[in-house]
Amino acid sequence: MKVIKEITAIQNICLYFKRVGKTIGFVPTMGFLHEGHISLILKARDENDIVIVSIFVNPIQFLPNEDFEKYPRDFLRDYHLCKSSGVDYIFSPEPKDVFPDDYKTFIEVKNLSDILEGKYRPGHFRGVTTVVAKFMNIIMPDRMYLGQKDAQQAVILKKMSKDLNYPTEIRIGKTIREESGLALSSRNVYLSDEEKIEASALYKALELGAELIRESHSISSDEVINKMKAFIKEKAPNCDIQYISITDNENLNEITNPGIFKGEILISLAAFFRKTRLIDNIIVTKT
Ligand code: PAJ
Repeated sequence: MKVIKEITAIQNICLYFKRVGKTIGFVPTMGFLHEGHISLILKARDENDIVIVSIFVNPIQFLPNEDFEKYPRDFLRDYHLCKSSGVDYIFSPEPKDVFPDDYKTFIEVKNLSDILEGKYRPGHFRGVTTVVAKFMNIIMPDRMYLGQKDAQQAVILKKMSKDLNYPTEIRIGKTIREESGLALSSRNVYLSDEEKIEASALYKALELGAELIRESHSISSDEVINKMKAFIKEKAPNCDIQYISITDNENLNEITNPGIFKGEILISLAAFFRKTRLIDNIIVTKT
């Protein structure tokens, strides 16, 4: 496994592999890897000749008041995890090389980026789409691997890729969870043991919401959301829910009557434990 910091170096490596007909699988990450990332890497390993993982804490997707400076980083640990998962190249550029002082070009997926997460983190998805578009241009992957954990990010990146005619196939891996149900996240290190136990109520609430939708033809989203909120309030008294939302999983339009909806319904939420912000979601498919 090699670590490449220079953009032109990884680009030349990728051009070479394309020329000799090797397929490239790409897993973009911000490092501090856990089993969620590893599941994507192993999927990429399975389906491609060459696996490239980017480790880049992307400054432009953090808002000024967010945790860019203290976002957890441990390159050595990530290195060993990548190596033992069969990664061929880690791409870890310097922020000043990706976004030099005179940088001017941004990619924005309209509407989808302003709702849900985008409403509370304005500019966040513009940072995500811009960095991922750049990395896709540099790496030219045949397949790119994203996690369902960040449902809206996956929807937006799929739309960007379609709109900009990237030839890359986008593959979504399921959310990897602790036994308690808590979705793995690099930010879980901010949680105390007690908060971690409470935080597992978030997924249980999502399961409750999914079950209510599956079982009733007449239930409204408001009813589902209120029941979920009451459940979280009881099981996780230290949790501040920022939003719970019920939308379709393609255009992220709100659904008022999920009971009669046909297709994939996304229930997503964001919640705080003190300053730590967690997100999670579940999909209910109604036929
Ligand atoms: P990061 O949070 O490091 O996540 C990298 C990838 O791992 C994303 O596709 C994310 O959805 C996936 N992932 C995270 N937790 C997961 C879990 N518990 N189960 C399955 N997959 C999980 O998402 C980003 O970085 C950045 O926004 C990035 C796309 C790299 C752009 O900077």
